[in-house]
Amino acid sequence: MTPIRNIVILTGAGVSAESGIATFRGPGGLWEGHRVEDVCTPQALRRDPELVHRFYDERRAKLAEVEPNAAHRALARLDAEWAGELLLVTQNVDDLHERAGSKRLIHMHGELKSALCAECGKRAPHEGSLPPGSACPTCASPALRPDIVFFGEMPYAMHVIERALEQADLFVSIGTSGAVYPAAGFVHSARRMGIATLEMNLDPSEGSMMFDDSRRGPAGERVPEWVDEMLG
Ligand code: APR
Repeated sequence: MTPIRNIVILTGAGVSAESGIATFRGPGGLWEGHRVEDVCTPQALRRDPELVHRFYDERRAKLAEVEPNAAHRALARLDAEWAGELLLVTQNVDDLHERAGSKRLIHMHGELKSALCAECGKRAPHEGSLPPGSACPTCASPALRPDIVFFGEMPYAMHVIERALEQADLFVSIGTSGAVYPAAGFVHSARRMGIATLEMNLDPSEGSMMFDDSRRGPAGERVPEWVDEMLG
């Protein structure tokens, strides 16, 4: 077996669940009273900007009430101590990975604490509420929107992620249902490239059978155990 040097880790909502952030696809497909389609599409933003902005304002405000959990902390420790290449790709828009200390991190679906100008395309750090019509700090257009990758939009840094996967020896997926592409396709790419694959999830995900190894249980337990193995 090739010794593991380069790792790509993908996280989803399950990694933040034990911090108190709701996952997307709970029973009934509701997310805190909203259908994902009502708030996570460019059409929804055009149709009802007040609703979509308010929804993300509430999520942003919630960040002040939550803390990173043992899974975030273990991944930050792995980042700090792992001598090889490591890339943590998160689908989460919360800031719990960076608050735990992860540095080699990509938010492929955007960030709550960032605003995107629909006019000039610039992204800027943002705290507090973001009413529709807020002015862009770069071009002054009243066109700031939540910096969230909606369904049908291109996730961030795909070329960086693809390059990291090409160089990886291990792909690890944690706390994601595997329902949303392109992230759900990373395991397929990894297999094609002959990279070892490991999944940690509470329930079987849609792609569970694609992984070489699947470990069931809460991320707050499985992830620290795995990090101890990797660093031990
Ligand atoms: N530990 C580990 N896994 C957990 C935990 C936990 N404590 N709690 C829940 N899970 C698992 C669930 O079993 C489920 O498979 O986390 C997964 C969460 O799935 P989703 O709610 O679908 O979230 P995610 O996969 O991150 O969604 C992907 O969909 O709506 C879009 O852009 C949004 O980034 C999001 C994307």
